[in-house]
Amino acid sequence: MGLNRGMQRRDLLQVLVGGGAFALLGFLGLRTAEHFLPRPPRKILIKEKDLPLPGRVKVGEEYFLVRAADGRLRAFSRRCPHLGCTVNYIPDRELFLCPCHQSRFTLTGAYIAGPAKRGLYALRFERTRAGLVLEIPG
Ligand code: FES
Repeated sequence: MGLNRGMQRRDLLQVLVGGGAFALLGFLGLRTAEHFLPRPPRKILIKEKDLPLPGRVKVGEEYFLVRAADGRLRAFSRRCPHLGCTVNYIPDRELFLCPCHQSRFTLTGAYIAGPAKRGLYALRFERTRAGLVLEIPG
């Protein structure tokens, strides 16, 4: 009888420890998978009144919004395609310049020179009644 009770407790303990370890592994597995899954893009609303005028550039913390003289809008990430530094707008030279290794880009986002070897990342956006909704990749 005493032996049987001891066995039951030990069995119960093994089940609890095994279940806890299994739950912990599951939790860690989900956390790891979450880390590697692409995050959904963040959306930023830019009100109509805050859009750049034709021929102007709006500089956001993470984006450039360029309105060509014909009114066409383009949006680019400020993250440099070389190693990710934040690219700056140089109005008097009418270009975008990365301060880290001097990659340069036109106002249409095209690559001019430097180690980036490609143009700026274009950002998706849509016009809504509230304004322009810009997607910043996660
Ligand atoms: S990070 Fe921009 S040129 Fe290197």
